[in-house]
Amino acid sequence: GHGYSGMILPPRPALNLQLLELKAHGRYGSVWKGQLPDRFVAVKIFPIQDRQSWLAELEVYALPQMKHDNVLKFIASEERDDGDSAKLWLVTEYHDRGSLCDFLKGNVITWADLCKIGETMACGLAYLHDEIPSTPSAKGKPAVAHRDLKSKNVLLKQDLTACIADFGLALKFEPGKGLNETHPQVGTRRYMAPEVLEGAICFNRDSFLRIDMYACGLILWELMTRCTAVDVGDYRLPFEAEVGQQPSLEDMQTRVVTRKMRPALNPLWNKHPGLYGLVPTVEECWDQDAEARLSAGCVQERIRQLARTINS
Ligand code: ADE
Repeated sequence: GHGYSGMILPPRPALNLQLLELKAHGRYGSVWKGQLPDRFVAVKIFPIQDRQSWLAELEVYALPQMKHDNVLKFIASEERDDGDSAKLWLVTEYHDRGSLCDFLKGNVITWADLCKIGETMACGLAYLHDEIPSTPSAKGKPAVAHRDLKSKNVLLKQDLTACIADFGLALKFEPGKGLNETHPQVGTRRYMAPEVLEGAICFNRDSFLRIDMYACGLILWELMTRCTAVDVGDYRLPFEAEVGQQPSLEDMQTRVVTRKMRPALNPLWNKHPGLYGLVPTVEECWDQDAEARLSAGCVQERIRQLARTINS
């Protein structure tokens, strides 16, 4: 029939957004602190060749019900052509404390801080992982696997609650759709679960969620290493003591798959009831047997219980 295919849409006004300061460089591009008329924002800038990554991340934020206190909040996206180089922008809330990784480098944490960060991170992850069925009044949310969970992708809000960021590699699982095959080794080597390092290629929804839980265990370990409940040392990334700053895939395979190694548990942790009580949770997150790993909801509940019974 006679549609409106030739209709011209009015141009969307450009965001009144100024870049202030470069915060980080990554695989994808760069993250800036920016300013809207009424607030600071974070601006992730993708090079034009990375349109697919930009679109992939937008698609995750565009899913129904993606608003949660422990998931980074989307604000806007924009295509900018500033003269010679077009850039793709993704604008989100800005959190001044930055990533958990940077925070732990510069700060130690109390047992109460550890519980708050750990529980809220698990809460955000549980929300991502859970499918919310559609109802007549609201469209549901598919289960989402993050696939690049690490302390750099967990941001800290002012009150030391966590929010999960960077959905560039995330996968959604629409109910009734089949298996995801031939997914290569994506994510960050240091945080790759043994089955990813091994190069398994056929994962279903639950196997992707379990891969996130392995990484969650490593992040809980990072929190424990900086907890002042016992004497603490300098901040080290997981496996940094063993493989250094830039591990090869083979380095990680040898340790994590062949020798089944995990980051060292500090014997001093046994002297604090909270840290002692948290060890089994960490170990059940990074279990070699993916099917034995805890769910994010279970981790959240375990930390909540520990926080209630052990106050200092
Ligand atoms: N680094 C990456 N994303 C950020 C954000 N939203 N706020 C602050 N620092 C960040």
